[in-house]
Amino acid sequence: MNGHATNGDVAAELSPAVFPNGEESMTLIFSPGKDSVGSLAKALKLFKSHNVNLSHIESRSSDRIPNQYEFFVDCAPGGDVTKVIEILKATMTYCSVVSRNNVNDSKVAEDYVPWFPLRIRDLDKYANQILSHGSELEADHPGFTDPVYRARRKYLADIALNYKHGDPLPHIEYTEQEVQTWGTVFRELTKLYPTHACKEFNHVFPLLMENCGYKEDSIPQFEDISNFLKDSTGFTLRPVGGLLSSRDFLAGLAFRVFHSTQYIRHHSRPLYTPEPDICHELLGHVPLFANPAFAQFSQEIGLASLGAPDDYVKRLATCYWFTVEFGLCRQNGELKAYGAGLLSSIGELQYSLSDEPELKSFDPEVTGNTPYPITEYQPTYFVAESFDDVKDKLIKFAKTIPKKFGIRYNSYTQNVQVLDSKLQLEELANNISSELQILRYTLNLLD
Ligand SMILES: [Fe+2]
Repeated sequence: MNGHATNGDVAAELSPAVFPNGEESMTLIFSPGKDSVGSLAKALKLFKSHNVNLSHIESRSSDRIPNQYEFFVDCAPGGDVTKVIEILKATMTYCSVVSRNNVNDSKVAEDYVPWFPLRIRDLDKYANQILSHGSELEADHPGFTDPVYRARRKYLADIALNYKHGDPLPHIEYTEQEVQTWGTVFRELTKLYPTHACKEFNHVFPLLMENCGYKEDSIPQFEDISNFLKDSTGFTLRPVGGLLSSRDFLAGLAFRVFHSTQYIRHHSRPLYTPEPDICHELLGHVPLFANPAFAQFSQEIGLASLGAPDDYVKRLATCYWFTVEFGLCRQNGELKAYGAGLLSSIGELQYSLSDEPELKSFDPEVTGNTPYPITEYQPTYFVAESFDDVKDKLIKFAKTIPKKFGIRYNSYTQNVQVLDSKLQLEELANNISSELQILRYTLNLLD
């Protein structure tokens, strides 16, 4: 078998965050300081007088300035937003701009951060910014000349495109033919897992069979899997209609959200798919998202990508490729697979552990700059000592990414905090201190 579950989502060209009509998005956060009475009304006038429409307005208590409010606005494309920002920066106590795509003035643009989602529901903003539509198949796709298959792909892609954060996860009634395809892949791969997959994968897999309906004669449903993952590590699944840009895909991981397709490969070639499908996602990816160390490693890649310059996002996406997709690790002196591209491909799973490919130690500085093919077996694999080891190396690499702020995911609010003030750091220190108290108290109990 030549092909494997390739992952164009990370291989795809980088694209900026844009509105559905093709224009770019921008988020402003500003605080008027002490004299905040009527300040939102004043700010709104400012936007209006410069023809800038707002698609979302939110006010909240500032976590940067004590007892002050902070306004959080999403600007729709159009109007003189550069002038508005100039005035806000001159008159407000705090003003931060998350975007650089629609700022024409290059001097001003230097201060801006590439757009990224700040709240989990912001993931809705790029749900329909897929690089290729789930029903638009390449001419060499096994389902290209099958109108029934293409209609099914469109049906499933449309469900994903209309999905919004907080909606129940779509339940799909899979056809008998689709279940048969799944069954073939499931049967063949589960023969290899005991000898080829890492121990963490093999630890979780029986739990998925027990709790989420993983079996040969039915395709598991997102809701069951997502609930299981949420209980295990806080990861959730979100349906996606096609391939996202690397930046958008990695941003989802920062929120412990995995964008997953729901369609299945064409029945004529059950052991081949030119793109990620439900076999790749559910068999390759899902099991390890239930492992706490792997989940944290995946989230670290996502957090590192937020607001990072394009060239660094590309390197992070390449590290993702050689770990989450095609990673190998050494366990008890034996080589095992933990990458989803391997764990969902009968052919490449066996090839990767043979003497054929070249093996190198995972090192983000080297790995992140290594070119790779997306439609054939990898000539080189990177070997990890452990998930904690790859995570620590990645955190070290993330520190080299030029950013003027720190990033923290707040799991209570499901928001990403842009850390750029002392007050926020004090709050963070307080949180760590209460966690430490739990640690000390429990250590005493266990002594
Ligand atoms: Fe993948």
